[in-house]
Amino acid sequence: MERFVIQGNTRVHGEIAISGSKNAALPILAAVLLCDGATVVDNLPQLQDVATSLELLGSLGVELGMAGTRRLEANPRQVHSLTAPYELVRKMRASILVLGPMLTRFGEANVSFPGGCAIGSRPVDIHLQGLRALGASIEIEDGFIRATVDGRLHGTTICMPMVSVGATENLMMAAALAKGTTRLENAACEPEISDLANCLNAWGARVTGAGTQTIVIEGVERMPGGYFRVMPDRIETGTYLAAAAATRGSIRVTDADPSTLEQVLQTLRATGAYVALGADWISLDMQGRRPLAVDLVTAPYPGFPTDMQAQLTVVNAVADGVGRVTETIFENRFMQIQELRRMGADIVIDANTATVKGVNRLKGTRVLASDLRASASLIIAALAADGETCIDDIHYVDRGYECIEAKLHQLGVQIIRMTSE
Ligand code: UD1
Repeated sequence: MERFVIQGNTRVHGEIAISGSKNAALPILAAVLLCDGATVVDNLPQLQDVATSLELLGSLGVELGMAGTRRLEANPRQVHSLTAPYELVRKMRASILVLGPMLTRFGEANVSFPGGCAIGSRPVDIHLQGLRALGASIEIEDGFIRATVDGRLHGTTICMPMVSVGATENLMMAAALAKGTTRLENAACEPEISDLANCLNAWGARVTGAGTQTIVIEGVERMPGGYFRVMPDRIETGTYLAAAAATRGSIRVTDADPSTLEQVLQTLRATGAYVALGADWISLDMQGRRPLAVDLVTAPYPGFPTDMQAQLTVVNAVADGVGRVTETIFENRFMQIQELRRMGADIVIDANTATVKGVNRLKGTRVLASDLRASASLIIAALAADGETCIDDIHYVDRGYECIEAKLHQLGVQIIRMTSE
């Protein structure tokens, strides 16, 4: 087991560079399967989830090579397997994103059914309904989703019953090689959807409207491949900004995209932070002051991202006043709260709302990480706490934060990773 030992009472201070986006990279890696020629994916973050995606592509027969640490060269000309096995899907739910590309390109796809996960049941019904509407036959057999199509998928209009990032991505990729035009209605508008659309277009697809609720995909017969550079990670950006806000610190992040963080920046400004930005950088300065409590409600983009909820809950936990945090996307995303309480936070949960009464100081202790963003929030809490905090099961954080210890060291934080049986 791995744990972080973090010294508290630390004001985050300094400058770091933001990595490529995990949530953009994962569908883009799945999109490699759509092409019949070589693709280059640049600005790929070095993360556990990216490693799992590469393992999956490799197991299907995609030829993979890294040029340096961030540039992947991939060629799917020798795909020999159309099965995403349980061992990989279990490790990373986003493996479901190969379903649409494999099916549309090869006429068949077998993907192990993703189980529940820590933050909620997360079904895939919208993905499957959409693929059926495009003409796929889908059976659930022995824990596998087995999808087939005779010839090509057929473009149609699909109105998704609720906003789903993953379903929008899977269907957009499936439609890219379908016959005719597909309209995806009630599509997710997240910046990662636009990044995927830009990538598909760079590789030969015809997608318009990404970033709005209606995406139109004119199917093409083939996608030759090409080059694409992954967008900056907006959640990593927001996490470091929140760390500075909670610790009364100041930070400058570079290689970022401020245009993808409007709600988060507005919320951080409401805590009393001075926020300035340029084309690819953001600075946040608390000028040594305690943050003010803020209310927030998570919602699909352009609303406040659920992936930033846990981090802002910690800002509220040490803020002046009472903040109400309402989670509307996932049903079980307050798991970090019982650990925060053990650090002295005053938080009451009623259904999907947490009422957070800021305390003057949290107190370092031993806590347990339960998922990716919960881990990030515990790290922020540890920095703002008095004394030392030990966070067990920290491996979750490696799924989504590249070089987190090195970046925190750059910001003046004392953090050590310890490994034990
Ligand atoms: C993606 C992100 C994740 C983020 C989430 C919401 C990736 C790899 N992950 O996850 O970090 O927290 O968007 O912004 O990009 N749902 C259904 N049926 C479906 C699909 C989804 O009911 O077929 C529900 C889910 O249970 C959830 C909601 O829709 O309650 C939103 O989920 P979705 O947007 O699909 O999240 P992911 O794509 O899994």
